[in-house]
Amino acid sequence: MKINNLIDKILFDQNTLEKRIKELSEWVNEQYKDSKELIIIGLLKGSLPFLAQLIKTVEVDFIMDFMITSSYEGTEKSSGNVKIVLDLANNIENKDVLIVEDIVDTARTMTKVHSILKSRNPKSLKVLTLLNKPSGRVVEFEPDKFGFEIQKNEFVVGFGFDWQEKMRQLPYIATLKLPKK
Ligand code: PRP
Repeated sequence: MKINNLIDKILFDQNTLEKRIKELSEWVNEQYKDSKELIIIGLLKGSLPFLAQLIKTVEVDFIMDFMITSSYEGTEKSSGNVKIVLDLANNIENKDVLIVEDIVDTARTMTKVHSILKSRNPKSLKVLTLLNKPSGRVVEFEPDKFGFEIQKNEFVVGFGFDWQEKMRQLPYIATLKLPKK
């Protein structure tokens, strides 16, 4: 199946994403201007394009680390069972920690990751997500900063977002036209 046949509507094109991500990096620069030790944690795999774009204009010093969590298992629906597939390489105790995520939807993933990292006693812990879907919440959670808000019925692909683990490479974020069964 060709990718273009599955795209319904482009929500955020490449220019729009780059412009907003530049603003988000300015937020990072401001938040951490006095930080002595900042660790930016990318939640793989979805956050990869966002993180790669964001750090181009981050001007404060930081160490990058990664965590892999999985809950959607290649489907459109959160399974509710959030797994830590790969943990951090760094000790985060007494460090400023910024979690970079692609989307907070039900917030099951972020609630779990946030509580695990909080228990390791970082100096500070913040969450930056590219997309925020407040109407999808199953558990209460507010990110410290987000790029764009999307609606409950919008299932998105591209720029890190997958459908059946594919379509992450698109330079834009679009809604999906699911093939008829
Ligand atoms: C997706 C997304 C977030 C999470 C958000 O991850 O990247 O991590 O779900 O959903 P929630 O707020 O409903 O928990 P997924 O488990 O699909 O892994 P991926 O990053 O590899 O796509």
